[in-house]
Amino acid sequence: MAHYARFRYTASMTRKSPIRPVIAALEPSGITKVTALGLGNPDILPLWFGETDLVTPPFIRQAAVQALEAGGTFYTNARGILPLREAIRDFHKRTIGADIPVERITVPGAAMLAVVTALQMVCESGDNVVIVSPIWPNIFQAAKVVGAEPRLVRLDEDWTAGRWRLDLDKLFDACDGRTKAMFLASPGNPTGWMLTADEQKKILDFTRERGIAIIADEVYGTLVYDGAKHAPSFLSIADDEDAVFAINSFSKPWAMTGWRIGWLVHPKSVEGAAAALAQCNNTGATHFLQYGALAALSPEGDAFRGTLLERCRAGRDVVESWINRQNRVRWFKPDGAFYGFLHVDGLKDSLGFCQDMVRNDQVGVSPGWAFSLGDARDDSYLRICFAQDTAKLSDALTRLEGAIRKL
Ligand SMILES: Cc1ncc(COP(=O)(O)O)c(C=O)c1O
Repeated sequence: MAHYARFRYTASMTRKSPIRPVIAALEPSGITKVTALGLGNPDILPLWFGETDLVTPPFIRQAAVQALEAGGTFYTNARGILPLREAIRDFHKRTIGADIPVERITVPGAAMLAVVTALQMVCESGDNVVIVSPIWPNIFQAAKVVGAEPRLVRLDEDWTAGRWRLDLDKLFDACDGRTKAMFLASPGNPTGWMLTADEQKKILDFTRERGIAIIADEVYGTLVYDGAKHAPSFLSIADDEDAVFAINSFSKPWAMTGWRIGWLVHPKSVEGAAAALAQCNNTGATHFLQYGALAALSPEGDAFRGTLLERCRAGRDVVESWINRQNRVRWFKPDGAFYGFLHVDGLKDSLGFCQDMVRNDQVGVSPGWAFSLGDARDDSYLRICFAQDTAKLSDALTRLEGAIRKL
């Protein structure tokens, strides 16, 4: 009798998990633990995700529909169609004045996939990634997925100056021989904090000397409130061979979160690796959607970005005037992105509070706890996305005020 025929599985036997321990240990993010209670429920006012309530504008949708109707259903170059990569090159030229050759541009699918691709390129098991926090949880989860240790360096609150502050000594001290990358999102999610050009220069100098890559998350790069076309960008100061990986996305400025399309700018000489990883990860972004993305980079798309920015500015004003009437809520008015990261005096369990808000007040808010790896300071914060209709936003804030009063 064959050996396998004698083997009988019985329920009392414990099966060995086929999953890598780091994957098995991944937990749903703090945001997911709240949205799980009401995602899709039309009665809930959703401020929990990083997205506007505007639908993608018609000219972008129509470009994708036209491409689909014209038979854009085949594989494309896994790094993205050339006209799109050329339009991205031109976007960088007009927003930051940098000449980024198309050889450095890859459109692997979503910006999140661009983050994972950059991490896959630089990290091995046992390495670490130094990440400025508070930070969107998918980032430290992605570091774990590639086998790296996420090392969070938290921004400090400077209530006297009224701003978040990055302590560069703390950032540099967190790096050791196994640090392969520094991850900086500027403007940041959830804080809206922004790196200055001078800080970027110092960070670039440090990483050049230490052989550490910079993963510069610039998905909110054009959502800035100081009248500039773009936040200071590492792409303006890095040369073609610096180990700088810049992440960008169509999601936020063009209201395209559901499209899952963004891009990665990488050193010129890693083109081949970018192509190989694009093949393995997704074999390219969806064909016809790339034509929608191309339309987003037109002058009409620039005009839409302006409209969205004004919607965000109006939302930010609503939150600011609401905060001015509160005695337990403070914030650092964000310089960029579209989030209010609200400090609530007396709040100790942000997850429980947000879950109760969904159940009792029908408002979706994200818990500050989600944006760090157990730093108790962040448990006194809540994140809201204010890129919304101002009437709905005001309604949500009134309900939030009621919930805070009961704390
Ligand atoms: C800082 C940051 N990076 C990357 C992303 C991912 O963007 P996308 O949804 O376009 O993949 C997000 C989305 O919220 C983000 O906030």
